Amino acid sequence: METNDGVAATGDAAADSPVPPAPESPAFAEVPEEVHGPLPVAELHLHIEGTLEPGLIFDLAERNGIQLPYADLDELRSRYEFTDLQSFLDLYYANMAVLRTKQDFADMTRAYLARAALAGVRHAEIMLDPQAHLSRGVALETCVNGVASVLAVSEEEFGISTLLIAAFLRDLTEDAALEVLEKLLAMNAPIAGIGLDSAEVGNPPAKFERLFARAKDAGLRRTAHAGEEGPPSYIIDALDLLDVERIDHGIRCMEDPDLVERLVQELTPLTVCPLSNVRLRAVDTLADHPLPAMLAAGLNVSVNSDDPAYFGGYVDDNFAQLKSVIGLSEFDCVRMAANSIRSSFASEERKSELLAELAASGH
Ligand code: ADE
Ligand code: ZN
Repeated sequence: METNDGVAATGDAAADSPVPPAPESPAFAEVPEEVHGPLPVAELHLHIEGTLEPGLIFDLAERNGIQLPYADLDELRSRYEFTDLQSFLDLYYANMAVLRTKQDFADMTRAYLARAALAGVRHAEIMLDPQAHLSRGVALETCVNGVASVLAVSEEEFGISTLLIAAFLRDLTEDAALEVLEKLLAMNAPIAGIGLDSAEVGNPPAKFERLFARAKDAGLRRTAHAGEEGPPSYIIDALDLLDVERIDHGIRCMEDPDLVERLVQELTPLTVCPLSNVRLRAVDTLADHPLPAMLAAGLNVSVNSDDPAYFGGYVDDNFAQLKSVIGLSEFDCVRMAANSIRSSFASEERKSELLAELAASGH
């Protein structure tokens, strides 16, 4: 190749010739994140309504002719300062007012999956709060089918296998929950399992024994929030009275050494949500989070985003902050990614596929 003045261009010869790497080149494990791609994980603790980003709240409000009590996005964002779980739940339920049609639920779900794919999520078990919509006059079919219509194509469109979990609001009665569960079963809703969420303290697992027995009887998988704000005894009761297969959060188990020993022995999955715990003041700062101690104790913990639109980040943001703020090692991140896959309700075949993908990911 010649330049205009007739001098042979040297070009970037190094880029063209396959020279061996210089001895000081970093080892593969030290290659920056962008080279490996994100850590492939399963997200096991995610409330789909908690993925409603401020921009989408405004877009849906406009589409549905709903007047929001905030002048603009900044005013809405200024409300995202929480003092505890209830202060968050108040805003979380209020913002659901913009979800009216099947299309709204589908758009919210599609937006989550698009973002989750960038975060490395390869399998997601997504909680939906049907009672929070029924109480606003939105039909069960609207919310369930709106979300499910997108989950049905999540693998083709986003490369993410998904399962739907119907979560029940523990501050309502068990009879109300049972009524909704029977309706879900009667309509053959595509749910893999049930969960238990909302205001924890004062609403112990014992309140929902019949609900969980019915779900088990119907062949559904079972998980429950416990030990987020509630005491360690709620974790014990969720296991003994509700026969749950996973505990959502579970961080307060660390206050009871016998319980920790049991959870380690039984390999009970704990779906931990670090940024959520900071934002809801379950811990003071990320530096105070018990996750490193939980790992050191040998607990089966995974990292999840809970309500990412409200808590400052998706699952990749949770991992990034755990690394930068508390110095979590790549080894521990990979271990938790493997825990998330093994603790999922996916088929054994899908779990093997994802574990192989994790092993080949270069992380
Ligand atoms: N619903 C949505 N997010 C929740 C959380 N972190 N705890 C209990 N209920 C919830
Ligand atoms: Zn949660």
